[in-house]
Amino acid sequence: MERPFVLEERTHLCDAPLPRRVHTALQGLGSAPPAVPQAGPSGAHVPLGSPSGARGRGRRYGEQVIETERLVLRRWRESDREPFAALNADPEVMEYFPSTLTRERSDALADRLEAEFEERGFGLWAVELSGEFIGFTGLSVPRFTAHFTPCVEVGWRLARSAWGHGYASEAARAALDHGFETVGLREITSFTAVVNTRSRRVMERIGMRHDPDGDFDHPALAQDSPLRRHVLYRIGADDPR
Ligand SMILES: CC(C)(COP(=O)(O)OP(=O)(O)OC[C@H]1O[C@@H](n2cnc3c(N)ncnc32)[C@H](O)[C@@H]1OP(=O)(O)O)[C@@H](O)C(=O)NCCC(=O)NCCS
Repeated sequence: MERPFVLEERTHLCDAPLPRRVHTALQGLGSAPPAVPQAGPSGAHVPLGSPSGARGRGRRYGEQVIETERLVLRRWRESDREPFAALNADPEVMEYFPSTLTRERSDALADRLEAEFEERGFGLWAVELSGEFIGFTGLSVPRFTAHFTPCVEVGWRLARSAWGHGYASEAARAALDHGFETVGLREITSFTAVVNTRSRRVMERIGMRHDPDGDFDHPALAQDSPLRRHVLYRIGADDPR
């Protein structure tokens, strides 16, 4: 049975493990079946990609690791919990979410993000800069229903100290490459509160286009929340990025 809905955990990004039926739904998104990697019968992880998915820009795709010019995108580790809790407790990082996260909720989120790799074969990777955890970037599947779901979303959350260096955009481009070239998706979306201009700038930097007709009221937010109105961005597999 599904867990009860917890607002701050699900407002923007898909933070909870997905039911298996989503795999089926994803195959209707334009990805050529069996393009969405799935856990094998034993539940064993299916590798995220292969070196053949590389597109230059200093990236290469390893079995569970994506390297960019400056960053490493990898599966989650125990040692990520402390710096992840610190960024989730930072009101500036969490400005466009309903609340900061307690240590307990942050740890639970890290566990779920890691579990999603087992479930789907892709997810929100832990991002490392010079061996230090700085946040996450990657692909997720929104759990709420809207006119554009089911879909795969690209998302990011970095520690405040890591803003302003182009790291989110660099990691997000690698995530898009992975989604299009390794997973085989035909389109990836992103969305955020209208007022989250930093996040919108990342979307624009990586070549996503605002779809004004797609803007929507986030169903998980209160009617009177200033964060409720969301913008929708899209990018197709053949669009420049
Ligand atoms: C959204 C978020 C990831 C954006 O981080 P960011 O560092 O501003 O984004 P980028 O990685 O694209 O970096 C761009 C900035 O780095 C600068 N920069 C420096 N070197 C750069 C380089 N080599 N390449 C690109 N940009 C570079 C750019 O000028 C730009 O700075 P500016 O915004 O002051 O003009 C960050 O604000 C964040 O984690 N926010 C909290 C979580 C959140 O809201 N997530 C999204 C929910 S929808």
